[in-house]
Amino acid sequence: MNTMTIAIDGPAAAGKSTVAKKVAEKLSFIYVDTGAMYRALTWKALKEGISLEDEQRLVTLLGSSDLNLVQSEQGQRVILDHQDVSEEIRTAEVTNQVSIVAKHKEVREEMVQRQQQLVKDKGIVMDGRDIGTHVLPNAEVKIFMIASVEERAQRRHKENMEKGFPSDLHQLMEEIRKRDEIDSNRATAPLVKAEDAIEVDTTSMGINEVVDRILEIVHEKS
Ligand code: C5P
Repeated sequence: MNTMTIAIDGPAAAGKSTVAKKVAEKLSFIYVDTGAMYRALTWKALKEGISLEDEQRLVTLLGSSDLNLVQSEQGQRVILDHQDVSEEIRTAEVTNQVSIVAKHKEVREEMVQRQQQLVKDKGIVMDGRDIGTHVLPNAEVKIFMIASVEERAQRRHKENMEKGFPSDLHQLMEEIRKRDEIDSNRATAPLVKAEDAIEVDTTSMGINEVVDRILEIVHEKS
């Protein structure tokens, strides 16, 4: 049980990271947010003025980047070239462009390798878009989390309002739709439910309900 791997995939803003973090906490497993890695590369490329369509330059940039996910008291921090970029990678500028970076085959190959290296002999909960299909195809538990676009936009909107960030519900809905479309239609490792994944529709579920459902699935499999 303490070396089990749990893959959680699904579309943007489905609550994967919140749920994955809680599941990891309950099981004393390590949580790995793979989206943060694509976000960090996007943030660095934007900062350095590198075109997000330039696959070769992005691969070179990633190759020369020291990218670490560090567990701290404030949760997982994203450390890029010794700088904590955990907040910077969550801006709308990065969110709305990260899918362009994530569609490149060679970028994904390098990311997948790095993600697989994070799995050692400990229990792990990893979330993303291709975890059950490509990163951890042998994961003991695979969850595919979905929710309606309206519900996902509402949740993000509420979160923004609580943080005092400007937020427009219709714009959020459009942005989420667009990101899903790019992630689902890219040629390499598109967002798709693994054949052996269990789908959990969280549209009318609370966070704790989803966490309990996943823990139930984990216990059934262990
Ligand atoms: O999970 P999050 O929304 O932070 O992911 C940001 C973006 O990174 C996704 O929209 C997707 O384009 C990309 N991603 C991916 N594969 C993963 C994780 C994230 O393509 N495993």
